[in-house]
Amino acid sequence: MQSINRMFFVMLLLAGAAWSLPDRFELQEDLVQRKSARNQDAGAQSEDCRPIGSWNHTDLTEEQELLVKIITTQMEEIENLGDAMKNLNRTHINALVWSVQQVLVTLKAYQKEAYHKVKPPTCPLPQAPSNGGLVSVNMNDVAYCKPMCNKGYDFNFLRRSRLYEECGEHTAFVWTTQFIGGTRLAECIASNTTVSGGPTSYFPADSPCQKTIANSLMEDTQIHIFVDELKLKGVTGNHSMKLDHVKCGE
Ligand SMILES: *[C@@H]1O[C@H](CO)[C@@H](O)[C@H](O)[C@H]1NC(C)=O
Ligand SMILES: *[C@@H]1O[C@H](CO)[C@@H](O)[C@H](O)[C@H]1NC(C)=O
Ligand SMILES: *[C@@H]1O[C@H](CO)[C@@H](O)[C@H](O)[C@H]1NC(C)=O
Ligand SMILES: *[C@@H]1O[C@H](CO)[C@@H](O)[C@H](O)[C@H]1NC(C)=O
Repeated sequence: MQSINRMFFVMLLLAGAAWSLPDRFELQEDLVQRKSARNQDAGAQSEDCRPIGSWNHTDLTEEQELLVKIITTQMEEIENLGDAMKNLNRTHINALVWSVQQVLVTLKAYQKEAYHKVKPPTCPLPQAPSNGGLVSVNMNDVAYCKPMCNKGYDFNFLRRSRLYEECGEHTAFVWTTQFIGGTRLAECIASNTTVSGGPTSYFPADSPCQKTIANSLMEDTQIHIFVDELKLKGVTGNHSMKLDHVKCGE
């Protein structure tokens, strides 16, 4: 899953829906069968506990598990569909792209909802820069966000000595920013050099923001780096870990 970028993920979702409807029913049957098998043999270690794709899905409901399984199964199929894809004509490709865009709109609405759960309680949710993102943690009721750029991008303002922005009672619950007002904390512009930010202000070349947030271990790595940096700056204390997150720009 991690190795496949988000656009591809969505294309698979679409392609799965378009081309493999019968599989969906087979999967549903498969799930029903496994469920009854599990009920008969409740104590046994069932195959339901193995991860689907690279996800640890032990805490998923049956419906969520089915959804994940449909998508990951289709992905494997679509990965072997190169020639069939190539032979689609322009209208068909355009139709797929259009459908994918519609799916993406739907997914993004769910994504937005998910991020509302990690909103700092008393501050607005800041805007993540395009071509990059924000690593955010909350300590002692202050929200701290470190802007980061993807490989190939750099900050338009120098922020070497300004690793992060913050928001809390001491800022009157407004984000500090080099921009005038608002919730925009930084901008990432196309650049071959990375001179405006600190050494940790750039996502690794093989792991841009969108890929990072698709993998909870990679997301945690960025959060830990930031927490350690805050510690070095003397920011420690009551850390609301439930609000830790990385958010990517559009
Ligand atoms: C999956 O998550 C559960 C709890 O959420 C944890 O106990 C288990 O060790 C995890 N398994 C793997 C392989 O990470
Ligand atoms: C693509 O194929 C469909 C029929 O399958 C046809 O209606 C359409 O005109 C074709 N588009 C192009 C650009 O050739
Ligand atoms: C970035 O590098 C590419 C290839 O080395 C070069 O063609 C391009 O002009 C460079 N762009 C800038 C803004 O320096
Ligand atoms: C830590 O912060 C949380 C949320 O702001 C609060 O509910 C909790 O009481 C705090 N704990 C301590 C020890 O200050």
